[in-house]
Amino acid sequence: MLDEHVTLESLLTDSVSKKHLPKAGYAHVVSTAEYAFELATQRNICVDLATKAALLHDIGHTNWERRGEWDYESYNEFDIHTIKGAERAHELLILKGESLGKAREIALAILFHSDSSPVNKNVKLTPLQSLVAEADDMDEQEGGAHHNVEISFGEALQRIRRLDMLVYPHIRDCGFDCEKCDCLK
Ligand SMILES: [Fe+2]
Ligand SMILES: [Fe+2]
Repeated sequence: MLDEHVTLESLLTDSVSKKHLPKAGYAHVVSTAEYAFELATQRNICVDLATKAALLHDIGHTNWERRGEWDYESYNEFDIHTIKGAERAHELLILKGESLGKAREIALAILFHSDSSPVNKNVKLTPLQSLVAEADDMDEQEGGAHHNVEISFGEALQRIRRLDMLVYPHIRDCGFDCEKCDCLK
């Protein structure tokens, strides 16, 4: 793969992701990225942006666990994970060398991924933003149980490497010229 292309693997294995993604659960964020890939392929939306936004969509989560259970009540009342996630993901992406245009689109998709968030009021979502929200919903279980599904880091890494291999031909077909992509206009 091209050196300058920021891979999903490089995002998953960063220490910021390792610190924050387990709060939402590797199973949930990896499954959401897989769903996002499928939806993006069907809708002809950039699979690179979709999978990166989906992988990082819950990086803003705080630990909502209480006595081993997901505390859904507190979460619904006090959560601001979309705001924290957008900022955190943006910083991580820039650190990894992502283009400014792509980092902005990914951060905005994270900011608007949950309709439980007050920032979504009266916002008309772009196709990418809707896609990430839908991919997230596809993995949802009642009472936030999807956050408690466990897989090992090794399995998460294996599935993310597979996604990197699937994304690569798409960006190669675009000529790696993401800055001129319609997705960033
Ligand atoms: Fe979320
Ligand atoms: Fe989520």
